[in-house]
Amino acid sequence: MTSLFKNLGCLAVIVLAALIVAPAVDAQGLPGVVASAEMYQENCAVCHGESLEGAPQGVPLLGELRHGETATDIVTSIRNGYVDSGMPSWRDNLSNSDIRNLALYITESRANIDYETFNYDAPLLITDDIISSTLHDFRLQIIVSDLDAQPFSIAPLPDGSILLTEKKYGVRLISPDGEKSDYIQGTPQAYADTFTQLFDQEWGWGWLLDIKPHPNYADNGWIYLYYGDRCDDCNDASRAGNTTVSMTKLVRGKIADGQWVEQQTIWEANIEHYGATPDIGAGGRIAFDDQGHVFFTVGIKGQNNFEGIQDLSTPWGKIHRVNDEGGIPADNPFADRDDVYRSIYTYGHRSPQGLEFNFLTGDLWGTEHGPRGGDEVNRLIPGANFGWPLYSLGMNYDGTPVDYGKQLGIAFELSDIQQPVVDLTPSPAVSSFVITTSEQFPNWRGDFLVGSLKARSLFRFDIENNELVGRETLLEGFARIRDIEVGYNGDIYLLLEHNSGSQIVRLVPAD
Ligand code: HEC
Repeated sequence: MTSLFKNLGCLAVIVLAALIVAPAVDAQGLPGVVASAEMYQENCAVCHGESLEGAPQGVPLLGELRHGETATDIVTSIRNGYVDSGMPSWRDNLSNSDIRNLALYITESRANIDYETFNYDAPLLITDDIISSTLHDFRLQIIVSDLDAQPFSIAPLPDGSILLTEKKYGVRLISPDGEKSDYIQGTPQAYADTFTQLFDQEWGWGWLLDIKPHPNYADNGWIYLYYGDRCDDCNDASRAGNTTVSMTKLVRGKIADGQWVEQQTIWEANIEHYGATPDIGAGGRIAFDDQGHVFFTVGIKGQNNFEGIQDLSTPWGKIHRVNDEGGIPADNPFADRDDVYRSIYTYGHRSPQGLEFNFLTGDLWGTEHGPRGGDEVNRLIPGANFGWPLYSLGMNYDGTPVDYGKQLGIAFELSDIQQPVVDLTPSPAVSSFVITTSEQFPNWRGDFLVGSLKARSLFRFDIENNELVGRETLLEGFARIRDIEVGYNGDIYLLLEHNSGSQIVRLVPAD
């Protein structure tokens, strides 16, 4: 057992696990989920059926719902009831939390996501069939299918090859026809010695995260690499707990003859902010705009999943912006303060796993994992507070509402918190996304193609004037989608995470 286990104790680690990573793991069996299922059987099944199929005194809760299908609509139905037609009001008999947990249970059951029986160890089969969707029919082509079980990022290059990070191992180049290079020598150390397995997930420090070529890569050759920088005996936290600590760090370098060379640091945190929370909470995405800036996400890398996130003097729970050569842009929202991370662009984030600049509208967008319910697609307005851990449309997995403001002594108005453009409830465990301008899929121009882990689905969101106006599921329940990128020639690539071999596949138009 490693030091984190010794320090925090088993129970604390498991509680931390439930708090931090539950969206990415099998939620069945977590206390809030079990309790809401039991509450449903006790109070509702008599009229709505044991599996929501309906019963003589009530209506089915599957299929179309008369009074609205979002979690918020369902909360209203339960709270107010429809007394005249036989649906009691539950306002006086169930607490607000109970009602919200029940509504989440109903949305999750309706979505019928098969968390249990999908086999991550059997080979991942990719269909040859044409996949039809509203605006484009397409096929999937496998590029490579024997990658490590925990890849993180792909980045197409102008010549059609693809940069790849495998979290625990390193950086590779994949040729256009799927040949894997050896690991590039001399990249920051990545570590395969993760210390434990919790809820089917490995935890560790020092993982390689996002990789991206500079927008002018063809001229300057710079590649940006974001990773968990790991050390022992390097700050108070590591010495006090005799533990390894890490924090995200952004560097750039070039690849020459299989070597990582000319590395420069673009951003790093104060060493005292390196901590024992594993890199699973790192967020880990980067994005460029067209004005010489680079943005990066830092997820829950503090002591737990709520402290310091609302505090601008810590780097975690934030999205940052720096100049692409390093240094703070003069117009950053907190650039004129000396008591904060001046790189902060937005704050109040939980687990931001997707980040993209929208070149069509000139603004920054992100996705992030909520707790149970409350995954989000956000428009990242500079200086805005996205609310974690004060408020979420979702609930904690232990069944309690998200209101850590009480523990932290932080008062807030709901109007101070930027609400998501898309609320994804039930939580698919939203991952990376693109805002596509691919000429191969012209009808999807400007749409968000959004991947997910737990739901294993690819979604298309049509967002106009910062509002969701249409959505469809392009691929349903097919594989954990860790990353998605558009190549220079408009190819759309998916990085699929799977135990028996992760894959890169390409979406191509059917005709
Ligand atoms: C005594 C029978 C009865 C019980 C118990 C009951 N319901 Fe209902 N429920 C109904 C009926 C009848 C309707 C249809 C009302 C209408 O549409 O006018 C309904 C409607 C609803 C709707 C709205 C459906 C729609 O189409 O929009 C929801 C959601 C719902 N119930 C949830 C619950 C939950 C959750 C519980 C348990 C806490 C519960 N109900 C307990 C009888 C019941």
